[in-house]
Formats: sequence, structure tokens, C-alpha cells
Amino acid sequence: MRYTIPVAFAAATLAVAGFAQTTHTPPLASGASPAPSALQTFTDNCAACHQPDGKGIRGAFPALAGSTLVTGKPAGAILVVLNGRGGMPAFKGDLTNAQIATALTFVRTSWGNAATPVTPAQVAALRTGDAPDPSSKKPIQAN
Ligand code: HEC
Repeated sequence: MRYTIPVAFAAATLAVAGFAQTTHTPPLASGASPAPSALQTFTDNCAACHQPDGKGIRGAFPALAGSTLVTGKPAGAILVVLNGRGGMPAFKGDLTNAQIATALTFVRTSWGNAATPVTPAQVAALRTGDAPDPSSKKPIQAN
């Protein structure tokens, strides 16, 4: 279906690239590569819904790539992640300020998004209630 052309292209590229493909990592970001821990934080907590390419799933999970809420003032996205909104779960009981800052910095600087990083202090300023214990890392599952 919509993957026909990219798959055909990838197959042709693979045939030409040969063994070089085994060490090739597809770029996720069009700008600077984020740190692995940032990618991991996004992958563990957000990618199930918003997808590894940040494009979401139409009609269910909004795209973070190109979202003006994501790339606008940090408070908008921080509040969505802390408190949830609609079908988006609240993360304030599961992720530390640093983890939320890391995930949001990743989405603000990936897939062509080019906004400023989010700091743990910015998250802390908007958080109500206690942060979770940083040692109890509980991955969120899509449901
Ligand atoms: C269980 C699925 C799910 C997970 C996991 C999830 N989200 Fe979401 N997210 C949603 C849905 C659904 C919405 C739309 C909410 C609404 O209807 O207002 C959303 C909306 C958002 C928005 C607002 C986008 C916009 O343009 O308005 C941001 C930012 C966001 N999510 C970031 C994240 C981040 C960062 C994570 C990981 C920490 C995450 N989400 C994890 C389902 C999810």
C-alpha cells in the first residue's frame, strides 16, 4: 500500500549497498543526532503511540513531528506529558522531571523539529505533586 514505493526503493538500495547495510543506522532526526538515552526514553515511553518516526497514527495518536504544540513554548508540551490530555496518559506518576525533559527535548529536536531543549527545572516548575522515585523505572505500555 503506501509503503510500496519506499520498500521497493529500500530493496534496490539494499541490493546495491550490500554488506554496508549491516552497519547502517537510519537517521531519525534531520538535524543533530540525539543522545542514545534520549532516543531510549522516547522509545520506552512514547513511541508505541506516537511511533518511532514521530508521525503518530492518523485518527488515534497525533504526530509530534511538525506539531506546533511540540515546538512552541515548552510549557504546552510539558503540561500534556505531566497531566495527560484526552487519550494521552498522564506521566507525572511514572517519569521523573529529568526523564520528561529528556523525552521532550528529543521530540523538540527530532524529525525536522528544531526547538529549544526542555530542562528538568522547567518540568519541575509545572509539576503538581511529588515526582516518582527515580530508581523505580516503570515503562508505560500503550493500551
Ligand atoms: C497510550 C498512548 C500514548 C503515549 C504512550 C504517549 N502519548 Fe502523547 N498523546 C497521545 C494522544 C492520544 C494524544 C492526543 C491527546 C488529545 O486528544 O488531546 C497525545 C498528545 C501528545 C502531545 C500533544 C500533541 C499536539 O500536537 O497537540 C504531546 C506533546 C505528546 N502527546 C507527547 C508525548 C510524549 C513526550 C510521550 C512520552 C513521554 C507521549 N506523548 C506518550 C497518546 C500517547
